[in-house]
Amino acid sequence: MTTTYFTASSVDGFIADPEHSLSWLLLRDVDVRGPMGYERFLEEQVGALVMGSSTYTWLVKNELAGDPPKPWPYAQPTWVFSTRDLPRVDGDIRYAHGSVAARHAEMVAAAGERGVWVVGGGDLAGQFADAGLLDEVWVQYAPVALGAGAPLLPRVLELRLEEVARNRDFACARYTVVRLSS
Ligand SMILES: NC(=O)c1ccc[n+]([C@@H]2O[C@H](COP(=O)([O-])OP(=O)(O)OC[C@H]3O[C@@H](n4cnc5c(N)ncnc54)[C@H](OP(=O)(O)O)[C@@H]3O)[C@@H](O)[C@H]2O)c1
Repeated sequence: MTTTYFTASSVDGFIADPEHSLSWLLLRDVDVRGPMGYERFLEEQVGALVMGSSTYTWLVKNELAGDPPKPWPYAQPTWVFSTRDLPRVDGDIRYAHGSVAARHAEMVAAAGERGVWVVGGGDLAGQFADAGLLDEVWVQYAPVALGAGAPLLPRVLELRLEEVARNRDFACARYTVVRLSS
């Protein structure tokens, strides 16, 4: 089973701007069912999700807000890491803290035939990499530089480029994580 960090990024390696806004990303042209597209990735490869509290909070405020509120968008079980008590929403959401490695086997079991999607942020993906549990990194590069923000992957990590594609405004790259033998 594959554990994959799939995200969009600015060309200078930020997944959100310093105010945690994604306005630089959301209005761009993309075919979500096209080459390396998000919807196909989600449908074909994702059996479980994991995210940090900033990503979860962004989703709750931006995707669920409304009158009436929209439902949690994922059918797959989702782990949310935080040291705090976060506002709860309906859905198969498992609130967790501490070592991601200690929870990884549960995620893989829940994912069944599919893989685990590390939604973000970058440090959370780095925690999986630190534990030798991150297999792939997929990045959809938007044609913009942000100068500062939430980092894509704040680690020293060797990757091998496996695939590239253009999806409208985005340059998409799929990498495997190289595990260096000691
Ligand atoms: N461009 C994209 O496609 C994309 C994709 C995903 C996310 N995003 C955005 O990027 C930003 C990412 O924010 P971020 O860098 O702050 O990352 P994040 O992973 O979303 O949130 C980080 C927080 O998660 C909690 N956390 C992480 N690891 C933990 C652990 N092992 N145990 C307990 N808690 C843990 C901590 O919060 P507590 O203080 O709650 O403990 C930490 O401050 C968000 O704005 C998000 O919306 C963009």
